[in-house]
Amino acid sequence: MRQHVNPLSRNFNQIESIPSLCEMFDDSKSNLHLDIGCASGEFLFDLALVNTSWNYLGIEIREKLVKNAKLKVIEREINNLYFIFGNANNILNDVQNKFIIKNLKSISFNFPDPWFKKRHHKRRLIQPEFIDTLSNTLQKGTLMFIKTDVKDLFDHMDYTITNNFYFKTIDKKDFNYSESFNPNEVKTNREKYVIVNQLDIFERIYMKI
Ligand SMILES: C[S@@+](CC[C@H](N)C(=O)[O-])C[C@H]1O[C@@H](n2cnc3c(N)ncnc32)[C@H](O)[C@@H]1O
Repeated sequence: MRQHVNPLSRNFNQIESIPSLCEMFDDSKSNLHLDIGCASGEFLFDLALVNTSWNYLGIEIREKLVKNAKLKVIEREINNLYFIFGNANNILNDVQNKFIIKNLKSISFNFPDPWFKKRHHKRRLIQPEFIDTLSNTLQKGTLMFIKTDVKDLFDHMDYTITNNFYFKTIDKKDFNYSESFNPNEVKTNREKYVIVNQLDIFERIYMKI
């Protein structure tokens, strides 16, 4: 069982300097998807290899995973995938990094850490201030995907997002995955585990309006 990293630790106040999109990707004009809490990035590797017309960006708070993922990108000569180390909330709240949010076509929060205890809820990724930061800067039409196997966390995320006037829920029935960042509906590692163990998956899609 891995130890969860406390995102509110002072260790994450210092943010690494983030290069421009031109430095991250060969074609910086391609649609950009951001996966927050991407762990070792396997989901993004799978996507970047099958869907070369999109750029993929992953943010992860466990430094070793990011170092390994960056090495793998170089080894495999992948030019539409980039990883950033740090607390996603701090990174995206930083004015210098607003360009990331502005350029996104979609964002995913796949199986974020649940932080079950009430006194730890403030460590959860999706917080009202963070959703405000996103809604203030995202372009209209940007999609946001949430997925979890924890009902209480789902309710917390859905409540927080729908309380923001600028996010509208999209009916999954009407959603065409083949035109999205994930045309083959690739599964994350946690999702594969959840499916094998026949646990419930709670998910929702929102659009910035
Ligand atoms: C339960 S894992 C899910 C990993 C992956 N998304 C999946 O579905 O298999 C949650 C991941 O989010 C990362 N994480 C938690 N809080 C974070 C934060 N504030 N910023 C960036 N990453 C975070 C954790 O280190 C962990 O790798």
